[in-house]
Amino acid sequence: MESPFKPELLKGKVALITGGGSGIGFEISTQFGRHEAAVAIMGRRRNVLDAAVAALQSEGIQAIGLEGDVRKREDATRVIETTVRHFGKLDILVNGAAGNFLASPEDLSPNGFRTVLDIDSVGTYTMCHEALKYLKRGGPGKDPSTGGLILNISATLHYTASWYQIHVSAAKAAVDSITRSLALEWGTDYDIRVNGIAPGPIEGTPGLRKLSPEEMTSKTREYMPLFKFGEKWDIAMAALYLASDAGKYVNGTTMVVDGGLWLSHPRHIPKEEVKELSRVVEKKSRTSRVGVPTSKL
Ligand code: COA
Repeated sequence: MESPFKPELLKGKVALITGGGSGIGFEISTQFGRHEAAVAIMGRRRNVLDAAVAALQSEGIQAIGLEGDVRKREDATRVIETTVRHFGKLDILVNGAAGNFLASPEDLSPNGFRTVLDIDSVGTYTMCHEALKYLKRGGPGKDPSTGGLILNISATLHYTASWYQIHVSAAKAAVDSITRSLALEWGTDYDIRVNGIAPGPIEGTPGLRKLSPEEMTSKTREYMPLFKFGEKWDIAMAALYLASDAGKYVNGTTMVVDGGLWLSHPRHIPKEEVKELSRVVEKKSRTSRVGVPTSKL
């Protein structure tokens, strides 16, 4: 699908996207590149990075792939410094790297729980921490009048509770909290905007493949408000909005892009029965309140 934004939306910007070699992260990298940002993508697998960079460059996008694990502080520092050395500065950091699998708490070891928090929560914090000196207003190579942007990819799992996702729910709750704290502190002190995006189920992503086996996805569709899964494009468009000047007053928010799914649960009464049922209940309650049927009043 074509982007509704003008092609030069991010002209002159440099973005670093963790987890940018595949899934939602790759789509964000592609759309940022198509809107004239230079992109560095960080990931653990060299072959995935190489394929992603080749695809980006084939579209004329300035792109580099940097191997690293967000759980390792030295990797975070090296990748950020290499990005700045290569492109001259850093304007946008997207924390997209995440770990996930389905597990019930009784089968999830404390180390399994910790592993996901290490990637999603501590990894996000580490990248933000190491990137601060480049993202802040007046950072090397940057337009002195404005600071940079951090975008944290989150989820909606923890708004209520989600089966077999205790680890990711805890991890993303921490990510949202980091988003708000940094928006407050770094928005005030360094002119850095910090926002998040909480995608719903997005077709063609490792997340959906891992978390929703086919039988479950067809059942889920029945009570999805918009009766469809999202596309990676939907998330990338939200990222473009937040990264552009259109989002210049948006700070500390996590934008839910899920078609309203997190609000939904199965209808407990068919619509046709609601009118009738509510009238009956209303009549009964009036009768019992005054002791005589409503018709006799
Ligand atoms: N069920 C229960 N526990 C699991 C598990 C599963 N499916 N997969 C991993 N674990 C546990 C391991 O048993 C281990 O705990 P233990 O030492 O107590 O046994 C712990 O998690 C770490 O596992 P390990 O395989 O060593 O971690 P890793 O660092 O190699 O991989 C993961 C990290 C597990 C998060 C892996 O799924 C991953 O790399 N994911 C990245 C991609 C991804 O998930 N994308 C989707 C984004 S939504």
